[in-house]
Amino acid sequence: MAGSLVYRQTVWMRAAHWLWAVCLFFLLLSGLGIFNAHPVLYLGKESGFAYDNALLEIGARDGAEGPRGFVRILGHEADTTGWLGVSGEDVQAFPPAVTIPSYYSLATSRIVHFFFAWVLVGTLLVWLAAGLRSGHLRRDLWVTGADLRALPSDIANHARLRFRHGRRYNVLQKLAYAGVMFLALPLMIATGLTMSPGADAFAPWLLALFHGRQTARTIHFLVMLALVVFFLVHMLMILAAGPLNELRSILTGWYRVDADAEGEAE
Ligand code: HEM
Repeated sequence: MAGSLVYRQTVWMRAAHWLWAVCLFFLLLSGLGIFNAHPVLYLGKESGFAYDNALLEIGARDGAEGPRGFVRILGHEADTTGWLGVSGEDVQAFPPAVTIPSYYSLATSRIVHFFFAWVLVGTLLVWLAAGLRSGHLRRDLWVTGADLRALPSDIANHARLRFRHGRRYNVLQKLAYAGVMFLALPLMIATGLTMSPGADAFAPWLLALFHGRQTARTIHFLVMLALVVFFLVHMLMILAAGPLNELRSILTGWYRVDADAEGEAE
């Protein structure tokens, strides 16, 4: 049964949430544009034709009826014509529909990417400061022993799409959100900085930490994939948990809890 509305997201949290959603949209699409300039990922410090250390490659080769697109991962190849490598008239790794700009321009993609990267860094710093000040990080994202004990029953409830609307996040939400904020996004920023010659000159230890620029680039790409998976699951969970209540929370701050959760501590 539905209970009362509780104030769950401060204006700082809501503003930060929408700003990073916008930033990640532009970062993803401009990042795919940058990737198209050299659509191969390597492990190790070397890159290029002379080396045999490619992890993933998206490319095109001539076929009897025109160019065919392919994706090769660790030596295993799949034909991806129509999706990756070749789509319609376009012969490029990611199709123009998912890149910014929608034509190949490394310079423009980079300008967009670096602009939103710094907006994202600023947003995260504001979120961190506001979240520490309001107690949001400690109260809502810090995973406690009691949370971990509740993990098996929380997984079982999620598997049955049975959601409890309490004042606080459940443990899977805490793990997912904390994973994004304290693991994925810092890793994204650190590997991004490692790829920048300016940052390497300032902090050469970054290159040692990530085993060179090529490995940093590969990690950057894999974290991007993880964030895309997070986003899809995030959207599915919002739909399953009741989109109107969830959206009201992240737009206005007010969230309707279940009747039996009304007595829960603030
Ligand atoms: C790239 C995009 C996104 C990322 C990385 C992301 C990440 C997050 C994170 C980390 C939180 C917890 C924030 C905190 O408690 O401080 C959150 C909450 C939430 N997000 Fe997103 N989000 C994204 C996009 C979206 C979009 C597009 C929607 C809606 C259509 C959305 C709806 C929500 C809702 C409803 C909540 C929880 C509000 C509550 O339960 O009180 N998110 N998101």
